[in-house]
Amino acid sequence: MYRSHTNGELRLAHVGNEVNLSGWVQKVRDKGFMLWIDLRDRYGITQLILDEERTDKTLFEKVKTLGREFVIQATGTVIERQSKNNNIPTGEIEVLVTKLTILNAAKTPPFTIEDDTDGGEELRMQYRYLDIRRNPVKENLIFRHKVAQEVRNYLSNQDFIEVETPYLIKSTPEGARDFVVPSRMNEGQFYALPQSPQTFKQLLMVGGMDKYFQIVKCFRDEDLRADRQPEFTQIDCEMAFVEQEDILNAFEGLTRHLLQKINNIYVAEFPRMTYEEAMRTYGNDKPDIRFGMKFGELNAVAQHKEFNVFNQAELVVGIAVPGGNSYTRKDIDKLIDWVKRPQVGALGMVYARCNEDGSFKSSVDKFYDQEDLANWAEVTGAKPGDLVCVLSGDTAKVRAQLSALRMELAERLGLRKPDEFAPLWVVDFPLLEWDEETERFHAMHHPFTSPKPEDMPLLDTDPAKVRANAYDLVLNGNEIGGGSIRIHDKATQALMFDHLGFTPEEAKAQFGFLMNAFEYGAPPHGGIAFGLDRLVAILGGQETIRDFIAFPKNNSGRDVMIDAPALIDDAQLTELSLKLNLKS
Ligand code: AMO
Repeated sequence: MYRSHTNGELRLAHVGNEVNLSGWVQKVRDKGFMLWIDLRDRYGITQLILDEERTDKTLFEKVKTLGREFVIQATGTVIERQSKNNNIPTGEIEVLVTKLTILNAAKTPPFTIEDDTDGGEELRMQYRYLDIRRNPVKENLIFRHKVAQEVRNYLSNQDFIEVETPYLIKSTPEGARDFVVPSRMNEGQFYALPQSPQTFKQLLMVGGMDKYFQIVKCFRDEDLRADRQPEFTQIDCEMAFVEQEDILNAFEGLTRHLLQKINNIYVAEFPRMTYEEAMRTYGNDKPDIRFGMKFGELNAVAQHKEFNVFNQAELVVGIAVPGGNSYTRKDIDKLIDWVKRPQVGALGMVYARCNEDGSFKSSVDKFYDQEDLANWAEVTGAKPGDLVCVLSGDTAKVRAQLSALRMELAERLGLRKPDEFAPLWVVDFPLLEWDEETERFHAMHHPFTSPKPEDMPLLDTDPAKVRANAYDLVLNGNEIGGGSIRIHDKATQALMFDHLGFTPEEAKAQFGFLMNAFEYGAPPHGGIAFGLDRLVAILGGQETIRDFIAFPKNNSGRDVMIDAPALIDDAQLTELSLKLNLKS
């Protein structure tokens, strides 16, 4: 038996017991006549003690050869510690060792296996198995397990059935590129890895499964960011005989349950906001509503004066920065440089200081008097002591720029508190989105999303105005889930493909299987998918999903530990009929 107890288990009540422990050597402290070993496993650390008086001499000498991360097994008696350590649960006891076996030696690790390690990101990724021994990574993985477990429990209790869907499929258009897999048996043909199980879960509804969920890997070949990985996990869900309201209620229930179980926070009702309002008041379809700084549109009070920059702009919009009047001229100049960075792209920024005495001082005093500036303050909700920051230009661009500024300032002002949770439903997304590059409309969510019936007539006259029965769940400024009510009849689905620029032949070739299924009694249905990695990171008070994935990819999509992707040999290429393709 390798162990009778784990290293997080022993307490004063065990004093006198003979125990067997196994684990990794965290460190050895050598006082010459006395030795202590911190023995670590997933459950904690237990101190082992050996001394010249009580320990056999050969054993004593053997322990002196132990290095960090050696794997050992120790037998001994639990004794009460002379000097207790209140920082760890096992801190009142230690184990006086009578026998010790080295199960495996270890090279000195390339970074310290401690909470604050000296290892850089790339090195830790290369030796991820060592990184996982560190508490912060280990705790994150355990946390992820707990969240996944709660999701399974909750949904199972609500009668959802977990069904697995295939990974080798035909491409589903969700906006990103597919990862493809060559088929050996079907020369020159490829599978695609699913960007999501979208069409399969709809087919499960046609199959009468009624309530489906799956914690499932999805694959998207897209540019990576802190909240994106090429393979990530969804909590994918679908329900039959539902309207939007039913879905929102069902998954508000799941999210409320998670916030309560995991974070001990009860959110009675989730606020809802239309996409239009989110864009107008936060410049963003995933607003962080933990703090204010709402947009104030200033066209009515800032245009038609002598200031041409504003007069020529489609939108003049500002935010009030709480306490921002304390910024020095230099601070404000830095802020202006910040919005002018290419990543943000503003041409400049106008500001107005709101003095404590109720007067104003702006960067455009030449054009605006105190009354004008008082109007700006009113529209943006600025109070004495605040700073009004104003951007202007093309509506979509300027909203994105001011939203970036709002988030940056909130971060600097400490308004994005990781232990505060503000969920929000964003509803009534547009059905279609104009794509400048291809000069066509694309489905904003995906082509299976149902338009709002009352907006159907606009499909021919003003497609950009058609709203969808589509919704996102936003948590603390992050899109953690998105879904929609689906089209469930062949004619509407065909109409949608037509509007998306598919010929009937193309639609049939790509989605004939779904259209056919719709002819055999497809129930009304809808669903949602949560990004599990994102959800877990945010519930854990962080935003980088990599930290919650056991073996993540780096920013270039590489696994630096196993060194993938990699070349494959000629024989394999030939077998997959890829060799000629590559050469031609
Ligand atoms: P959507 O594309 O909005 O919807 O994806 C659902 C959720 O998955 C998460 N997500 C990601 N997480 C990490 N890395 C990525 N690359 C990544 N891409 C997406 C987000 C997002 O909200 N089939 C539809 C769902 C439906 O309609 O039911 C879908 O996949 O948190």
